[in-house]
Amino acid sequence: MAASLVLHLLACLLLASLTASPAGAQLCQMVDACSCKLENGTVVSLRSLANADGGYAFKTGGEKETFWYNPCFGFDQGSGCSNVSVCANLQDPADRTVALGYVKPDSVTVINTTTVAFRYTGYGSNSEVFATCDDQATEPIFQSHGIVHDPNQQDRYVFSLTSSEVCARHAQCKQVDRCTCKMDDGSGNLNLHSFNRPEKALEIAVPGGTVYYNPCVGVGGNISDTCQDASVCLKQGDTFLNLGSARSGVFMTDEDGDVILEYHNLQDETKTTKVTLTCDPSARVEPVFESPSLTDGHLSVTMKSVCACAGSCMFPARTCAAGDSCSCKMSDGSGTVSLHALDNPAAAFKDVATSSGVEYTFYYNPCSGLTVGLEGCADVSGCAYNHVARRYSALGAVMPDAFTPDQERLIIAYSDQQSGMSFNLTLVCDVTAAEPKFAFTGTRLQNSYDFMLTTKCACADECAANGLK
Ligand SMILES: *[C@@H]1O[C@H](CO)[C@@H](O)[C@H](O)[C@H]1NC(C)=O
Ligand SMILES: *[C@@H]1O[C@H](CO)[C@@H](O)[C@H](O)[C@H]1NC(C)=O
Ligand SMILES: *[C@@H]1O[C@H](CO)[C@@H](O)[C@H](O)[C@H]1NC(C)=O
Ligand SMILES: *[C@@H]1O[C@H](CO)[C@@H](O)[C@H](O)[C@H]1NC(C)=O
Ligand SMILES: *[C@@H]1O[C@H](CO)[C@@H](O)[C@H](O)[C@H]1NC(C)=O
Repeated sequence: MAASLVLHLLACLLLASLTASPAGAQLCQMVDACSCKLENGTVVSLRSLANADGGYAFKTGGEKETFWYNPCFGFDQGSGCSNVSVCANLQDPADRTVALGYVKPDSVTVINTTTVAFRYTGYGSNSEVFATCDDQATEPIFQSHGIVHDPNQQDRYVFSLTSSEVCARHAQCKQVDRCTCKMDDGSGNLNLHSFNRPEKALEIAVPGGTVYYNPCVGVGGNISDTCQDASVCLKQGDTFLNLGSARSGVFMTDEDGDVILEYHNLQDETKTTKVTLTCDPSARVEPVFESPSLTDGHLSVTMKSVCACAGSCMFPARTCAAGDSCSCKMSDGSGTVSLHALDNPAAAFKDVATSSGVEYTFYYNPCSGLTVGLEGCADVSGCAYNHVARRYSALGAVMPDAFTPDQERLIIAYSDQQSGMSFNLTLVCDVTAAEPKFAFTGTRLQNSYDFMLTTKCACADECAANGLK
């Protein structure tokens, strides 16, 4: 009895401290539905805690009430919650639910150095989730702290979410290909492809010599054979040194939030280069290199450019010339995109999905195609099995109609003359995607399907261009 009274008092105290948000409180600037930027430029994000598969991430409550929460993405629960982030069941029966918060918060308020509050509008009642950073927390803890009656507003249900995942940190730039990364705060890509000029590499003056630099591909044969495949080539007198191979570029984000592109010589890992990318909108045409330092085969330099500003530089216009049924060569010199390493007629890519209310199994195999369902799909690149009609339909011939680059993606268009079916495969380059991911993404017109394949082999020159794996 005494213990439960103490607990009750504690709960009241916690509720009082949680709801004491001062008027005119400082806001955390919303980046998207589940992250916001603080004044010092760091980001608080709930994304790593979200359930991205359509369900909820957290559930809490007592004997009478149950609450569900999922930041970032909506979920459905019971009769009253459809595409919501916060949902409650306040009384029997269990399927009677009420929406306490839609996906996009109205505001995010800074409470103190470790806590921000996401405020949501619901249907009838609102809600507020206090997200608290706790470095030591091993598991996220989601708790309900009751209801606040505000005479001027709708009732507000208050929750707390404590986790090490919600600590403010600088946005990280996640690697896309060897010279592109994507900011995880949604601000866009850092993209160095417009400097891709093998015939005239960038030049950096260093003590006693010159460094030739081509961020995405090798500096080219006319500089020196030693530097054939180097992105970074040091010339001192008559000697040349590879300080970073083209296929070695890796993006890092340091504790100050600076994005760094690191290279090493694939034959001699003691030779390295560190390029700190600094956003400078005034460096519009050529990048500006500052404070180069060269010691023992290690180059460190700052590169100021508009292309180091998130979302400011695009891929230059380019085409991709078909080599064979599953490879093409990029016109910008970045190399060959080849799916040969993924070719396996015996184990085609598969995805089960519903389209126009009918369940299908979709099959895809690049390069040498596939055969399933006897006469239905013989020697095709793609095939659909209709589970209702129990029929296989060929979606496209082995040889594509076209390879079309679209920013960092490449669309391969296939069609089948006989059946009149067609499909487009969007190849998504991700050098970290060692395991390819295949998915049906929709239908545009009748008899035309869209698929997506995310793989490192969609990045130019990452996978062998011949049949070797
Ligand atoms: C910040 O506010 C939260 C919620 O009100 C509270 O639990 C926490 O102890 C506070 N932390 C600091 C450092 O004041
Ligand atoms: C759910 O809500 C979000 C945010 O309002 C919206 O972007 C999304 O399209 C909705 N999803 C569905 C399936 O309605
Ligand atoms: C930025 O501000 C937040 C909230 O005051 C603080 O927790 C964080 O440590 C700060 N980060 C940096 C790098 O200054
Ligand atoms: C490489 O060739 C290009 C054009 O063919 C030329 O402009 C450039 O100066 C050459 N680079 C070197 C280091 O000789
Ligand atoms: C496939 O992609 C091509 C090139 O982007 C486009 O012209 C065509 O409309 C697309 N076809 C289908 C069926 O989506």
